[in-house]
Amino acid sequence: PTRPYVIDEMISAKTIAARVEALAKEIHDTFRDTDKLVVVGLLRGSFVFIADMVRELDLPVEVDFIEATSYGDSTESSREVRILKDLRGEIHGRDVLVVEDIVDTGYTLQHVVGLLRARAPKRLKTVALLDKPTRREVDIKADWTGFEIPDEFVVGYGIDYAQRNRNLPFIGAVRFLEP
Ligand code: PRP
Ligand code: MN
Ligand code: MG
Repeated sequence: PTRPYVIDEMISAKTIAARVEALAKEIHDTFRDTDKLVVVGLLRGSFVFIADMVRELDLPVEVDFIEATSYGDSTESSREVRILKDLRGEIHGRDVLVVEDIVDTGYTLQHVVGLLRARAPKRLKTVALLDKPTRREVDIKADWTGFEIPDEFVVGYGIDYAQRNRNLPFIGAVRFLEP
């Protein structure tokens, strides 16, 4: 159901790996005294980023997931965030790091942060690999951002177009071949 397109590499796997390492150092500094950090990945897009991030974090970590979706197979946000799967564990009184692949309009991260804050974690921080600030529709920013990128539809490193291309090891921009 998608138009023909090609993918132009935007951020290489090497560049991503170096940035993830640097982010992990900053996150480690913030949570260095934690008894346990609950790292929450937003499925599906963050599955690659969270896998790389937790392996760089030298802290006692628990990994949990929430599944949220707003795009479906479209390149446009529906602005309605659906929770398809909730956390397995309790986060009341815990240190929590939410790991997101990309903040675009901001609806997804805002919704999830609101949901988790209501459960009264001890500390709640957010990290997003990518940020498209020019597309923002709600006032939210991740505590840590890997890269700010221009308004292009990107895929790879976990991010999909209509569920495709999540397995690319780099971040690429989708370029449609026909008008
Ligand atoms: C994508 C992406 C982010 C969100 C960002 O998820 O992974 O979670 O959209 O967009 P927003 O800031 O405009 O809300 P999607 O809904 O495509 O689900 P997926 O992670 O399963 O691909
Ligand atoms: Mn997502
Ligand atoms: Mg998606």
